[in-house]
Amino acid sequence: MTSSRNAVILIGAMGSGKSHIARELARLAHWPARDVDSLIVIEAGKSIAAIFAEEGEAAFRALEKKVLRDTLRCGGVIATGGGVVTQKANRELLQQSHLPVVYLRASAETLAARIRLQPGTRPLIDGDGALSHAQTVARVEAILHTRRPFYESCATLAVDTDERAPRDVAHEIWYLLAGQEGD
Ligand code: S3P
Repeated sequence: MTSSRNAVILIGAMGSGKSHIARELARLAHWPARDVDSLIVIEAGKSIAAIFAEEGEAAFRALEKKVLRDTLRCGGVIATGGGVVTQKANRELLQQSHLPVVYLRASAETLAARIRLQPGTRPLIDGDGALSHAQTVARVEAILHTRRPFYESCATLAVDTDERAPRDVAHEIWYLLAGQEGD
């Protein structure tokens, strides 16, 4: 397994900024950035929306589990999909990796606003991009209610992302990881 000295995993809900923050953190750390969702798209040869529509969520989760396992072996700054923690096997993989796992926290309002900037890309929220802001907030709240305990139980660190630039959050994570090096 990868050493904690060259790997970190970012978890959090859709819209928490995992991919963007991973790229900023990778730049700071001089580590590669890896994005589980992007690797799934490459492996499947189609978009996440198409996987959900044509093969269903269970097929997506099976592919996600395989890609997560492979990616953890490679190290770097690893951005996961928001639903990775819903699967017991994935939670065990994260916990048993002994790598730093950072939970990117954000309010439902913030997440909904960010999700609405990319309509139609999140099949579990707003498949066709037709929901109002209030409806999107309500869906995000319902998802957070179920998943928050999983994010919290998998995380070794938590960082707030509301009203913060990805670069600023990446700097905070890098600072916190440096503080843990001697632990
Ligand atoms: C999902 C989140 C998405 C993607 C898929 C399922 C989820 O990733 O993996 O649409 O269940 O929360 P992002 O968190 O990067 O949007």
